[in-house]
Amino acid sequence: QQIKPRQPPARPPQIFPLLCLHCTIMASPPRSPGQPNRPCSEDGIPVVDLAVLVNGDARERSQAVRHLGRACQDWGFFMVTNHGVPEDLQSAMMDACKELFGLPPEQKAEFMDAGPMDPVRVGTGFNSAVDGARYWRDYVKMFAHPELHCPAKPDGLRGVAAEYAARTRGLLLELTAAISESLGLPAGRIAERLDLGSCFQILVGNHYPPCAAGPDDDDGAVGLPAHSDHGLLTLLFQNGVDGLQVKHDGRWLLAKPIPGSFFVIAGDQLEIVSNGRYKGVLHRALVDRAQARMSCVSLLGPCLDAVVKPVPELAVPPLGLEFRGVKYRDYMEHQQSNKLNEKGALDLVR
Ligand code: SIN
Ligand code: FE2
Repeated sequence: QQIKPRQPPARPPQIFPLLCLHCTIMASPPRSPGQPNRPCSEDGIPVVDLAVLVNGDARERSQAVRHLGRACQDWGFFMVTNHGVPEDLQSAMMDACKELFGLPPEQKAEFMDAGPMDPVRVGTGFNSAVDGARYWRDYVKMFAHPELHCPAKPDGLRGVAAEYAARTRGLLLELTAAISESLGLPAGRIAERLDLGSCFQILVGNHYPPCAAGPDDDDGAVGLPAHSDHGLLTLLFQNGVDGLQVKHDGRWLLAKPIPGSFFVIAGDQLEIVSNGRYKGVLHRALVDRAQARMSCVSLLGPCLDAVVKPVPELAVPPLGLEFRGVKYRDYMEHQQSNKLNEKGALDLVR
C-alpha cells in the first residue's frame, strides 16, 4: 500500500495589525518577493525597512524616520530589513569565523595574549583577567576601520572580512544619518560631530559552545553578561540559534530575528551624543544547552580621537548637558578593561 505523502498544514492567512500600537504607523502588507514591510516583529521589536528610508517618497521617508526615532528612544534596539548586505556575504563571514574557531590553538596563539586596544584579539569569556570562567564564549575581535587587521588564517578570512566590513559600515552610516534626522538634526550632524569620516569599526565573531549548565540553573554559565555596547551602533546576526536578550521595560526579552535581517543595538556613544534622548540598550547572551550558538557583530564607533559630547542643539534649556566629553579611545579602553557591569562604563562621563 502506498504511503500518502503528508500534506503541509494549511497556512493561516497572514494578519497584519492595521495600526502598530507602539509606533502608530500603519502596517503595510508584505511586498513580494522582498521581506515584509512591518513596523514591528511579532514580539513587538521595532522593524526598520532600510529600502523605505533610502528610496521612499517624502511621506514614506518621514514616517520611517519617525519610526526609527521611536525605536531608538523606546527600545535602543530594532531589526533592519532590506538592508542591502547580501545574505551570502553574511554566511561567508559566519563560516570564516567558524573556521577560525576550529583552528588548532597554536595558529591563534599570537592573538591570545592581546589586550583590549590591540587590533586583533582571540580569547574566551569577556575579559578573562577579571571575569573568571563563567562566561562561556570564544571570540575573535578585529579592528576593521580605518585599517583592517585580521589573522592570516583561515585563508579566506581577510577577503571576506574586508567586504563585510565595507558593506556593513555603509549600512551603519546610513542608519546614523537617518538617526540624526530623527533627532531633528541635519542628516550629517552626528557624523560631523563624531568625525565619522575616520570612524572606528570592529568586527567580532562569537562562538558559544553548548553547555549543559545552561541558563536555567542558578549560577549556570552565560554567554555574555548584561552590558551596553561602547560604540554608536552595532549590527548583529546569528546562526539560527537564539540567545540574545534585550532589556525592555524592565524585562528581559529573547530577540527572535526576521530571517536575513540584522539586529541593531544602540550603544553608549549614541546615548552621549543624543544627550540621553536615545539610550544604549542593555543586552546579554545566553548559551544553549544543546546547540552551539554563533553571532557576528559589526560595531561602528566615533573616530578614536574624537572627544564625544552631546550635540549642543539637544541641550537647550531647561535641559542641561547630561555628559561630559571623553575621548572615545579612553572610553572604549575603560569599558573593555573592566568587568562588564551593566551600564557602569557611563559613569566615566557623568
Ligand atoms: C554582544 O553583545 O557583543 C554579543 C551578543 C550576542 O552574541 O548575541
Ligand atoms: Fe554587546
